[in-house]
Amino acid sequence: MSGTAQIGVTGLAVMGRNLARNFARNGFTVALHNRTASKTRALVDEFGGEGTFVAAESAEEFVAALERPRRLVIMVKAGDPTDAVIEEFAPLLEEGDVIIDGGNAHFADTRRREKELRERGIHFVGVGISGGEEGALHGPSIMPGGSTESYASLGPLLERIAGKAKDGAPCSTHIGPDGAGHFVKMVHNGIEYADMQLIAEAYHLLRSVAGYSPAKIAETFRTWNTGRLDSYLIEITAEVLAHTDEATGKPFVDVVVDQAEQKGTGRWTVQIALDLGVPVSGIAEAVFARSLSGHGALREASASLPGPTATPLPEADAARFADQVEQALYASKIVSYTQGFHQIQAGSEEYGWDIDLGSVAAIWRAGCIIRAAFLDRIREAYDARPDLPSLLSDKQFAEEIGAAQEDWRAVVASAVHQGVPTPGFAAALSYYDALRAERLPAALTQGQRDFFGAHTYRRTDREGSFHTLWGGDRSEVANG
Ligand code: 6PG
Repeated sequence: MSGTAQIGVTGLAVMGRNLARNFARNGFTVALHNRTASKTRALVDEFGGEGTFVAAESAEEFVAALERPRRLVIMVKAGDPTDAVIEEFAPLLEEGDVIIDGGNAHFADTRRREKELRERGIHFVGVGISGGEEGALHGPSIMPGGSTESYASLGPLLERIAGKAKDGAPCSTHIGPDGAGHFVKMVHNGIEYADMQLIAEAYHLLRSVAGYSPAKIAETFRTWNTGRLDSYLIEITAEVLAHTDEATGKPFVDVVVDQAEQKGTGRWTVQIALDLGVPVSGIAEAVFARSLSGHGALREASASLPGPTATPLPEADAARFADQVEQALYASKIVSYTQGFHQIQAGSEEYGWDIDLGSVAAIWRAGCIIRAAFLDRIREAYDARPDLPSLLSDKQFAEEIGAAQEDWRAVVASAVHQGVPTPGFAAALSYYDALRAERLPAALTQGQRDFFGAHTYRRTDREGSFHTLWGGDRSEVANG
């Protein structure tokens, strides 16, 4: 006997609760379950008027409440808790039913779970959900993986509750099989880290080199948010910087401990990029900047190291410098997204996912933390040329970054001379210059590797690999 609920949500912490409410507000009958049953009752008591909920006290009741094929969303902590909930429900499900994991799971776990459950006739869909608690309630960006068959059943519901881009398109699409959805969500978070780091560096420069107050910097970000940097992260940065701490009357940003934390998805992005051989230096510098900020004792022990202290520019020069910082921020942002999309491309090839990069950019236009007008440009670039080798191969992006690079270089140079750390801006510029370079010093690296490890090298003038007899007459031998 099957129930009437088109979707069920188990795990009613804030994200799960808001997702359930979003489904109900959009006209779906939603089965509810939580390990602590009082949370289920509390949701219905407080929000029961928003739609049709079926509160279940037990796993059996919850499953019985679902129409066939059953669609069961798990919203619990990534890792073992997710495995435990899968094991609680899988034995109660039938062939063709769908378990959806809406947590920030590691894509490798999702691939394992999808394979195991597929062998039991059950679809497993790892779904990246971005936009935080507000997004879950009002319309997140949704990145589902899993089989095309499961998306046929699940997709219409996700597209209904997803955020909508300016052209009305839902910010949800089938990313690709098995772990593709969670992989793309991971890279989304990596790009988020890079975006946040670049904004932090722009703030740091405006504060210490332009000599702007947090309130004035907020004003500057508000202005930038009306142009090509228009994005959620720029918008909230202005709000955070404009905020005054009630207890002290000081700028909020000045009473916050300057040690950034991280739940870990940005770290995963870099770890996987290292395995894939994809240089995501912007994301890596963002992760390391957060880690460095957290080493309080090390920073204290290093505070007396010699080096310049930034001296604010005269007002007229400060305004010009702020314009240059906008150029550096935008150019570095183009590089970070170039690197992130390169990683998605590499992951898609490695795992055979055939991910459409234009579609990924399209569903990041609204609902997610990195939502920005800029993503429409990326969508257009990939839609025009799906085989684009790199975002920097897009004519318009190449022109924009070319127009920005003089100011970008001036800002990085100023930061270096003034002693302001800008690992994101500098790494992005080095990546850009390395891509452009006719010859890289990697030739010397190959010579060194051959000298101490006989690791061989290739030549520019003929095929094959070679080794020089460094310890002997230094003659060269072909190495097959
Ligand atoms: C999102 C966010 C979210 C992220 C938290 C914590 O897309 O809604 O990226 O998934 O996990 O904001 O992120 P940290 O890694 O910075 O702690």
